[in-house]
Amino acid sequence: MPTLTWLTREEDLKAAGRAPYRLLEPVETYGDPDTENMLIQGDNLEALKALLPYYAGKVKCIYIDPPYNTKSAFEHYDDNIEHTTWISMIYSRLELLRDLLSEDGSIWISIDDHEGHYLKVLMDEIFGRQNFYTTFIWQKVDSPNDNKVPITPDHEFILCYEKSKDTAIFLKKGDISVLNAYSSTDQNGKRYRDRLLKKNGKNSLRQDRPTMFYPLQAPDGTTVYPIHDDGREANWAYGKYSVNKMIENGTLIWKQRNKNGNNVWVPYTREFAPTNPERPHPTILLDVKTTRQAKSHQRMVLPNAQQFDTIKPEQLIQRIFEIASTQNDLVLDSFLGSGTTAAVAHKMGRRYIGVEIGDHAVTHCIPRLQKVIEGEQGGISEAINWQGGGGFRFYRLGETVFDETGGIRAGIAYDHLAAHIFFSETGTPLHAPADAPLLGVHKGVAYYLLYNGVLGDKRASSGNALTSKILAGMPPHDGPKVIYGERTLLAASRMDELRITFKHTPYDIKGR
Ligand SMILES: C[S@@+](CC[C@H](N)C(=O)[O-])C[C@H]1O[C@@H](n2cnc3c(N)ncnc32)[C@H](O)[C@@H]1O
Repeated sequence: MPTLTWLTREEDLKAAGRAPYRLLEPVETYGDPDTENMLIQGDNLEALKALLPYYAGKVKCIYIDPPYNTKSAFEHYDDNIEHTTWISMIYSRLELLRDLLSEDGSIWISIDDHEGHYLKVLMDEIFGRQNFYTTFIWQKVDSPNDNKVPITPDHEFILCYEKSKDTAIFLKKGDISVLNAYSSTDQNGKRYRDRLLKKNGKNSLRQDRPTMFYPLQAPDGTTVYPIHDDGREANWAYGKYSVNKMIENGTLIWKQRNKNGNNVWVPYTREFAPTNPERPHPTILLDVKTTRQAKSHQRMVLPNAQQFDTIKPEQLIQRIFEIASTQNDLVLDSFLGSGTTAAVAHKMGRRYIGVEIGDHAVTHCIPRLQKVIEGEQGGISEAINWQGGGGFRFYRLGETVFDETGGIRAGIAYDHLAAHIFFSETGTPLHAPADAPLLGVHKGVAYYLLYNGVLGDKRASSGNALTSKILAGMPPHDGPKVIYGERTLLAASRMDELRITFKHTPYDIKGR
């Protein structure tokens, strides 16, 4: 497949792998103390890496709105990144985002003409060209542009990719106007419409689909074939099997029509109105508010904060979450800006993770989300009847899990190391918090960790070593086992017999 080349490509391909694993340090919880929602301040390369052992393959919907490289310095962050640097920056982040996405998940990226077409090529490489779903166009201005230049774009676009082809569960748009097409009502009060059984328009001639030309018996016993008004032989829209079903369930309707002075029988198929009227979403988003309206919402929510210029309207993110997620799904934005994605996720009952490097994580995101908890009524609040509640936890990036020599940093807790080991072995996060030597079973292999004297013996000489006694105290597994510890005192032949692969901490722990 053709790929993009740039000066630092070879280095950039390794950047995600080389980024250190850091701990996430909880700083403060706002609102509900049991909340799982996370706001992280820090560079998203390291923050996403820190999230991998816990959330790989778990995020249903990712929305990002990275700097567009517009060559103009903004108040709150440096958007003036050179072209190569921009590509280099985004490549490594996209790789980590792909690993965080669930198999039925999707990623949505806001972008404009500056880098959008390069981004498409990068996305094709990282996410797979076959997983590209579509491009949405968002009209970002709602007033005539009085710029001096003859053409100024009044739109941005959003690239949408599935993690895997046809696996994302995208929902249609609820739309009661669909019901307008069902203008009749039966004796039970059910809305319906009758549609001609004869096919019209394209491919409607007998020779187009010969099996769809067959006789039907009208109520008076006469035989009826599909014939166009101009006399050409046509097709029925459904095959014999489906029509027999309609006859059985009473949805094949015969009506008498006057044709050239004669009463003729014409068959119709009766369609009842759907209970959940919906239609596909348009890809041109003209109805989701504009930057001007988003800024005015921002002034209302954060009257004393400096204006954040590249804020997105809540309605835009709401549309994405309506299509690509449902209640309680985990969503993520690693270029959080003023916190729009988190605020919308919060109001819509999605669990969320937001990452922002700038000080506005504190000056904008925290106070904005606090207002959301208090029941702030701007943005999408009225439309979804937002009443307040919930919470979020604020984190900063902490220590690295491994030191420069690859050793486990002193003081790293059991559950953190467990998460890293399980993830490095299986590529999946731990299913439950680890507090016992058996971390989990993946594809028939059990993974164990002896660390920090997990079985009670904290003596350095024995607690983390695999001995017969320690083995006897470990939860059994009838199958292959991978055991991490500082050393093993079991003979190689015994380990072979028990199907144990012993791995040394920290040397055998691989970063991903
Ligand atoms: C276009 S803004 C996002 C605006 C956001 N959608 C909103 O509605 O407020 C991009 C954001 O990405 C942040 N950012 C840029 N590089 C980052 C990085 N390496 N790690 C985390 N955040 C980063 C910037 O500080 C900026 O706030």
